[in-house]
Amino acid sequence: MTPKAPTTSHLSPRITDDGSFSLHSAEFAEGFHSRRGALLEARCTYVRPAQLERFGAGEELTLVDVCVGLGTNSAALLEAAAPLGIRLRWFGLEVDPAPLALALAQPCFRRQWQPALGLDLLQQLQNSGRWLSSHGRGEMLWGDARGQIETLLKQAAGRCDLVMLDAFSPRHCPQLWSQEFLAALSGLLAPRGRLLTYCSAAAPRRSLAAAGLQLAALRSKATNPEAEAGDDLGDDLNGAWSAGTVAGPQLEPTSRWWRPLSAMEREHLLSRAGESYRDPAGRAEASSILADRLRAQALSGAEPASAWRRRWGLPGGAR
Ligand SMILES: C[S@@+](CC[C@H](N)C(=O)[O-])C[C@H]1O[C@@H](n2cnc3c(N)ncnc32)[C@H](O)[C@@H]1O
Repeated sequence: MTPKAPTTSHLSPRITDDGSFSLHSAEFAEGFHSRRGALLEARCTYVRPAQLERFGAGEELTLVDVCVGLGTNSAALLEAAAPLGIRLRWFGLEVDPAPLALALAQPCFRRQWQPALGLDLLQQLQNSGRWLSSHGRGEMLWGDARGQIETLLKQAAGRCDLVMLDAFSPRHCPQLWSQEFLAALSGLLAPRGRLLTYCSAAAPRRSLAAAGLQLAALRSKATNPEAEAGDDLGDDLNGAWSAGTVAGPQLEPTSRWWRPLSAMEREHLLSRAGESYRDPAGRAEASSILADRLRAQALSGAEPASAWRRRWGLPGGAR
């Protein structure tokens, strides 16, 4: 599928706290990356927990970047994989060509990347939707990820080592956190593959578990004594909250980068906040997915999320 022509009026540039380039979307009322740093987030949430050291030189790592955006996560991953001699078999899902086009037009964004690695990847993807280099090959599947996932499953079901899920938050983009879409992403994973996301919300976690994946919480700074100086792995409430989620068919329960869900998080999944977003036909509008979920929550016999928050002494407003 060829991408629609980029229109950039819904996007505004911003420089994040680590000096890396990002965007804000008026359409989704949300930033593309953590204010603390686009590059920092790419490294802490995706590159390090991918544990590239598991792969030997000359091995091929198959990965899917769900919501490529500016391509920050993929470029950062390639620049970490290439020095280890790991080749990438890359797939990207993205509906809008504008973020990549806008970012590549910015000298400060281009300077973030090594010319023969990250920059070459992103430039080739923009030019042709494909990438071919001595470090691997890849293709962009432009269009609504809910439709393109069917095409991808035909090529890569059960073969992916890594799925990086970086959609806007469930509140603003519930269509990419639905039980159905997450089940499809789960179907991409190889037995030892893993899905990584910044999101710690209860509903997507419950859906990933329902798809048969084991879950763990990405460690935040306070729970990760090995974090390097300058790392900011996210907020943490007494070590019980997390900086995201890792899920896989055969996930080790704990590692340097993740830990088992806390009792508080497990109970969160069982509360009404854990009610899944539903989109059986893969075409629903965000507003109708949100309205259906509100109705399902009202009918649910589960504990209201507000009661769960009170029991754990948490401030209001869980995602
Ligand atoms: C948080 S941003 C991704 C940031 C990106 N991972 C990066 O490193 O720059 C979310 C992206 O999801 C895309 N998106 C929104 N809805 C989509 C859909 N239904 N299918 C595919 N992509 C979608 C947006 O265009 C946006 O680029």
